[in-house]
Amino acid sequence: MGFADGDKGHAYIMKTKIIKVDIDNFQTKELEEAARVLRNGGLVAFPTETVYGLGANGLDKEASRKIYAAKGRPSDNPLIVHIAHKNDMEVLAKEVPEEAYKLADSFWPGPLTIILKKKDTVPYETTGGLDTVAIRLPANVIARELINQSKVFVAAPSANLSGKPSPTKANHVINDLNGRIDMIIDGGSATLGLESTIVDLSEGTPMILRPGFITKDMLENVIGPVQYDPAIIGTTIDPNIRPKAPGMKYRHYAPEGSLTIYSGELDKVITTINKMAREKLDKGYSVGIIATEETKDLYQYGIIKSIGTRNDEASIAAGLYEILREFDTLHTEYIYTESYSDNRYGQAIMNRLLKAAGYQIVNV
Ligand code: TXA
Ligand code: MG
Repeated sequence: MGFADGDKGHAYIMKTKIIKVDIDNFQTKELEEAARVLRNGGLVAFPTETVYGLGANGLDKEASRKIYAAKGRPSDNPLIVHIAHKNDMEVLAKEVPEEAYKLADSFWPGPLTIILKKKDTVPYETTGGLDTVAIRLPANVIARELINQSKVFVAAPSANLSGKPSPTKANHVINDLNGRIDMIIDGGSATLGLESTIVDLSEGTPMILRPGFITKDMLENVIGPVQYDPAIIGTTIDPNIRPKAPGMKYRHYAPEGSLTIYSGELDKVITTINKMAREKLDKGYSVGIIATEETKDLYQYGIIKSIGTRNDEASIAAGLYEILREFDTLHTEYIYTESYSDNRYGQAIMNRLLKAAGYQIVNV
């Protein structure tokens, strides 16, 4: 996997300007400077409702290259282009099928990315060499105002160093990218905490390339049959199936420690995790446990962190990446987690957990 050109040594010595913007009460002029940086080809990290994004002018190939250099991202992994107005799809895509308008009307602004055939004006630097372009209109009002004011289409991957969990708070972005980018807009926590659903409308039956808050059922209610990319279903990784979203093939969201998921009846899962944790502690390793409000008091060993409540899977989604980062900060060597049901958000949660765990899952 090749890395985009870019002088990383140079990128390190940049002064990163950090500004705070109150999402519930800000004036458009607070985003003027950030918009200008984007217009002039610079890099700005900004909040979205899913995760923080690292933005640059998506139609400027030099600006796109800077994103890859700052993140250390493989150059074949395409970027999502963020827009502020639905009809801007027509400026980026060669053809906009009826389904795209229907999905945009139902789910934009929001956590859905639509893949369409690209126009020649969208550089291959932005699309990782593909003839398609990923487009999203985010719901976060800071993001939308920034894109609108910048007057450019904002290519933005998650604002983490490649291989780290996606950032859900400005602090996570600062830890990863301070000194490597021009600006960071601290707009509070990303409320959803997992990246957007990606649906490919560029050929054949619409296909989900990455699960998220907009589920298959929700899409099917609007446009009829939708299928999953075979590479993203199941709990094992088949080296013969290549995911259609290049980014899904990398071991993303990886914590420093070894993460194992336990599935099965919850009481058995807890017993097994207690046993594993005890064994590792006895051997002198550090241990972390990702528990829930319902189960946290049932664990006996290691550092126990509650991710959220099982009564509200959205709280679990919102807490996942932060907990993985916290265990990184502690340099925890072994991390154990329960698993989550496959319905609604559970599928997106399990998809990210499995990738973070390098598909280490044990059924008890
Ligand atoms: O919620 C989100 O989508 C966040 C926020 C910032 O909008 N962005 C995000 O970007 O998650 P990133 O770069 O971390 O993930 C983009 C994913 C990658 O897996 C990439 O391979 C896939 O989208 N992708 C982008 N363009 C594509 C294309 N033309 N065809 C197939 N997959 C594409
Ligand atoms: Mg990412």
